[in-house]
Amino acid sequence: MKRKLSVQKHRQSLSKAIKWARNHDVGKGDNPYNLDRSLSEAPFKNSLTIAIGKKIRAKNGTVSVFDKGAGAGRMLSEVKQFNPERIHATALTLSKTVKAENLAKIDRVKQGIGLRLKHGTKFDMIYDCFGEDYVLSKSLIGKSIANSISHLKAGGVLFTVIPAVYKPSTHNFTVEEAKRFLSKFRKKRPNLKITARYLKKRIDFVEYVDVVIRIQKP
Ligand SMILES: C[S@@+](CC[C@H](N)C(=O)[O-])C[C@H]1O[C@@H](n2cnc3c(N)ncnc32)[C@H](O)[C@@H]1O
Repeated sequence: MKRKLSVQKHRQSLSKAIKWARNHDVGKGDNPYNLDRSLSEAPFKNSLTIAIGKKIRAKNGTVSVFDKGAGAGRMLSEVKQFNPERIHATALTLSKTVKAENLAKIDRVKQGIGLRLKHGTKFDMIYDCFGEDYVLSKSLIGKSIANSISHLKAGGVLFTVIPAVYKPSTHNFTVEEAKRFLSKFRKKRPNLKITARYLKKRIDFVEYVDVVIRIQKP
């Protein structure tokens, strides 16, 4: 009975987050919502660039990169330009947000809900820049990150960013909760190399922290 209620709660929370993001995707939202960031605006731009460069040098053949919440697709099309022959770029969005100019440079675009998508393939690199993980409620972030990890090849790297607030919230982690969440996640998955940075920001006089997470699979 308790489990049934929790599944129901998760479903409701997921559909609320999806509705919110879909509305914002088509310009119906009120919050600041940037769909068109370039790589230089990503909070993990340097580490992502280094990790992709290392992968290209370390292996023969294609390096698969997955953008989990690609928006207009600008960042992924820039990543593809690092090495168009060696990088295979897959974008995920909820709505038809990828711009035509970027569509031409991206190998594959998937439309759907990240948590529910069956890829049937694994990636060398996954990044989520203010995409799915940033929108989901705190009760679903662990599931979403675990889902990304399950789609990483051995030696693969995940970059993601989640929001944290200072005042208690039913949707977002507080900064302390985010720290506890990561510490629990580390204990549960000791084989993973997990690092986090806490970046402070201020929007409309409200202070937030972006928790920038890097996870490497052995
Ligand atoms: C704020 S935009 C960020 C776009 C881009 N990463 C950037 O920084 O410019 C959020 C993106 O994540 C996607 N998104 C949000 N929630 C998602 C979910 N649950 N599953 C898949 N994509 C999602 C949206 O469709 C959109 O493409």
